[in-house]
Amino acid sequence: MGNDTSAGNTPPVFEGDFTLQEPLPEAAIQAVTEVMRSGRLHRYNTAPGKQSQAAQLEARYAQWQKSRYCLACASGGYAMSTALRALGVKPGDTVLTNAFTLAPVPGAIQSVNANAVLVEVTEDLVIDLADLEIKAKQYAGCVLLLSHMRGHLANMHDVMNIANANNLSVVEDCAHTMGATFDNTLSGNFGKVACFSTQTYKHINSGEGGFLTTNDADVAARSVVLSGSYMLYERNGAAPENAVFESIRLETPNCSGRMDNVRAAMLLAQMDQLDENLVRWNERHDAMRGAISVSNRVVLPQPVPGSVRIGSSLQFRMPWLDAAGCQQFVADCLRLGVELKWFGNPTPVAFTSQHSSWEYVDSQTLPNTDRILATLFDVRIPLTFSVSDCRHVGQIIASVAANTHSE
Ligand SMILES: Cc1ncc(COP(=O)(O)O)c(C=O)c1O
Repeated sequence: MGNDTSAGNTPPVFEGDFTLQEPLPEAAIQAVTEVMRSGRLHRYNTAPGKQSQAAQLEARYAQWQKSRYCLACASGGYAMSTALRALGVKPGDTVLTNAFTLAPVPGAIQSVNANAVLVEVTEDLVIDLADLEIKAKQYAGCVLLLSHMRGHLANMHDVMNIANANNLSVVEDCAHTMGATFDNTLSGNFGKVACFSTQTYKHINSGEGGFLTTNDADVAARSVVLSGSYMLYERNGAAPENAVFESIRLETPNCSGRMDNVRAAMLLAQMDQLDENLVRWNERHDAMRGAISVSNRVVLPQPVPGSVRIGSSLQFRMPWLDAAGCQQFVADCLRLGVELKWFGNPTPVAFTSQHSSWEYVDSQTLPNTDRILATLFDVRIPLTFSVSDCRHVGQIIASVAANTHSE
């Protein structure tokens, strides 16, 4: 590579903790304490005439998401497997999904004994529409579990056109896109079902938890019964009317995965700050991206026109590095306090994996995805970092990139 403008003095060591989330707001702590004092922790243990925190949360999230129905549940992974079950996916069925995602996605497909068929991704980290079109035709009528991995949204009109032409039911994995939009529509509102996570590193934090949203009454009712409603579905906060449950309630198995009132109480309080926090994430993301972009050795994915992401993490590639160079780069950044994940690592490490390490999925040939992931890096952006912290992290990345070469 030619001269790099970021190859000046090495920035000072960064002291921040990449896994440190903000403490929960005082209102959340108070709300949780009240639930614990009441003893009514189970979502269906309600005092006469009262609505549980889980039900209140469902109503609140449905309203925020602009979705008719919402089920609060145990995790994002649980929401995805429930969506697949509710759509009637059977053992041996094919489920399409993009090859750049995290293990809970193929895991959800495996949990219903379906076969994951992986679709290539582009250099901008979204599903490859040409490969999707080929596989959609080949497996017409199946489910597409589309993972908006790390917040990158494809052109959702194009995705839905391909899906509709081939009779695919689309489930959106929005674990990283709560609040992200395409063409001013919230992610999760394109497909038939959407799944969200409230696990600790997500946009609202209950340690573990998730939501399933949909406008389809049949899917919503099946999901509520699947989650373990013990025939108390009338007490849910954003579920279809009772008549929809008539036959569904007896033919649908109970695969318990409810959310409890403690988690719901802490999430309800966080809903008050969600919009503000989404802005704070993007301020931090933009500062980090700006500092990295001075380097001509780093390739940043370009947002698909019309998409607005929520930058709770940042990805970039260094396509001229070999594996040893990538390892060296990660080690040199860490010496300066910057913790990166490398998607090219053949061994899955801490929240990062690639399709070849999912041994329960049939081995598949994905040359473009493999080439892209080989030099793809990822950095978390917790809200405990200030905007200037994020600029500092970006400067370190650009500076180390300037000094890293292949063997
Ligand atoms: C892309 C993606 N989808 C789904 C999930 C599932 O979330 P959970 O951990 O709540 O099961 C995760 C979790 O990190 C994820 O990264």
